[in-house]
Amino acid sequence: MSDLKRGLSEAVGAAFAAAGLPAELGRVTPSDRPDLADFQCNGALPAARRAGRNPREVAAEVAAGLAGNPRLSAVEIAGPGFINLKLSDAAISERAREIAADPRLGGELVAAPRKILVDYAGPNVAKPMHVGHLRSSIIGESIKRIYRFRGDTVVGDAHFGDWGYQMGLLIGAVTDENVAVRDAVDGLNAGTGDEAKAVTIFEANVSLADLDRLYPEAAARGKTEPDYRDRARKLTAELQARKPGHFALWGHFAKVTQVALERDFHALGVDFDLWKGESDVDELIAPMVAELDAKALLVDDQGARIIRVTRQGDKRELPPLLVVSSEGSAMYGTTDLATIVDRNQSFGPDHVLYVVDQRQADHFEIVFRAAQIAGYVAEGQLEHVGFGTMNGTDGKPFKTREGGVLKLNDMIVMTRDKARERLHEAGLGAELDPEAFEDTAHKVAVAALKFADLQNFRGTSYVFDLDRFSSFEGKTGPYLLYQAVRVKSILRRAADEGVVAGEITVSEPAERDLVLLLDAFDQALVDAYDKKAPNFLAEHAYKLAQTFSKFYAACPIMSAEPVVRASRLALAGTTLRQLEQALDLLGIAAPDRM
Ligand code: ARG
Repeated sequence: MSDLKRGLSEAVGAAFAAAGLPAELGRVTPSDRPDLADFQCNGALPAARRAGRNPREVAAEVAAGLAGNPRLSAVEIAGPGFINLKLSDAAISERAREIAADPRLGGELVAAPRKILVDYAGPNVAKPMHVGHLRSSIIGESIKRIYRFRGDTVVGDAHFGDWGYQMGLLIGAVTDENVAVRDAVDGLNAGTGDEAKAVTIFEANVSLADLDRLYPEAAARGKTEPDYRDRARKLTAELQARKPGHFALWGHFAKVTQVALERDFHALGVDFDLWKGESDVDELIAPMVAELDAKALLVDDQGARIIRVTRQGDKRELPPLLVVSSEGSAMYGTTDLATIVDRNQSFGPDHVLYVVDQRQADHFEIVFRAAQIAGYVAEGQLEHVGFGTMNGTDGKPFKTREGGVLKLNDMIVMTRDKARERLHEAGLGAELDPEAFEDTAHKVAVAALKFADLQNFRGTSYVFDLDRFSSFEGKTGPYLLYQAVRVKSILRRAADEGVVAGEITVSEPAERDLVLLLDAFDQALVDAYDKKAPNFLAEHAYKLAQTFSKFYAACPIMSAEPVVRASRLALAGTTLRQLEQALDLLGIAAPDRM
């Protein structure tokens, strides 16, 4: 099966070849003038240039070769030699039936499936999430779904930040504040304590709220007080050496944070296949360092051990990868390098996508180069998929609550409140029972947040504007859900009246437009996949909803005569399925009613 564009390109290519011209110039694209044609081919211009001929003449010769093609209702030459193509209603109807019968709704599979690992979200223990984490979750989830839908074997990993300096800061802050916790930690470290008892003490005394409260304080002190910072570094090194008390307390921090994070991410429709922490590769670090050493890749630098990654022709100097700090600790880049080793052993990905804030571009360039120098990966096997920031109205990275930190749960609650308000305002959902109403409000909220993000190319920064994001009008998630629900209610009504869908046969312009758009799904998918850019699918979903609206206004369903009614009903059903598929690839679910 292939989309109309590909089928037509073949036919036009054959006409070029028959005229003694290169077949690849027969490539067609959707028409720039949909009022005049469905597709166009501009290949006569370069063909004429190469052959030293007049482009309109070349175009006319190709057009003559297409005469009699039953799939085309018109072939016209425009301007300097563009070939305009209009498909027959029969060809369009046939394609519509093909998409309707396809469980994949016209979206093709990749020719050679690969093993892909998507590293996204990357939240940290205690360190509050920022917009970079939110965007990474939204974009990464969508990329994961798109790759999987096209047939790759995909694993999504949260790459939990649980092993750095912040852990030393927290161990210090928590034991300073709480004597019971400190005694339990000391007991374990002295080899006199009982681990299960210690954990009970941690559970009773240290909550997620405590970590949230203590971390910012500790982080600030670490910046201004050298002694405090040095102690935190020492505690970090001791943790990494697995001092039992530190290790048990750390385990508690990681657990309470992970439980809360997984719950909040799930509410946002973000779920991971793997929740691996930086700490999970800790055991691989010593052998890795030994191996790098044996390969003579490590350089001593003021007590630290580094890998230099500069290359000839670099426009600016990249810092080296810090593998072992002067305190003997593993650094952010060390765990990233060891994670590459781990992933090679456990999954063997052909390609790894790191969906992380653009501000970490240098970090990844350094890690990727080091991994290549170490012989772990081939050039291009690791890819940083960067993105811009979500800003507040002040133009700075968005923060909730009087400049406070971004809490995923606060964000969801705030957006859900807004969604309820919007539903009431629009007179929607009034007939739903409270539970169904809540479900709808939640879905509207998630759609508002995610679509506002995904409709932009990821590299673009945008401003957080909840009023606009949550509106049922305009290019928004709620608008798309509203349209999906509208189609669902049309289908429900038809079912209630016993009307069944039949074979699709199009004749009206609005019907043709709708099928042409359904046909364009595959191209949107390919663009989103190749460019790691879900905005192509977001755009497709939006256009599909709009085009359906126009179709429904121009082509009544229930009042049409039976054969037409059955065809239009099938078209509506297919549109809904493709719209929900596209939304699902964005990580958005539509409610049944609102
Ligand atoms: N935890 C990191 C941070 O908050 C993001 C992790 C991104 N992924 C990675 N493999 N480094 O900045």
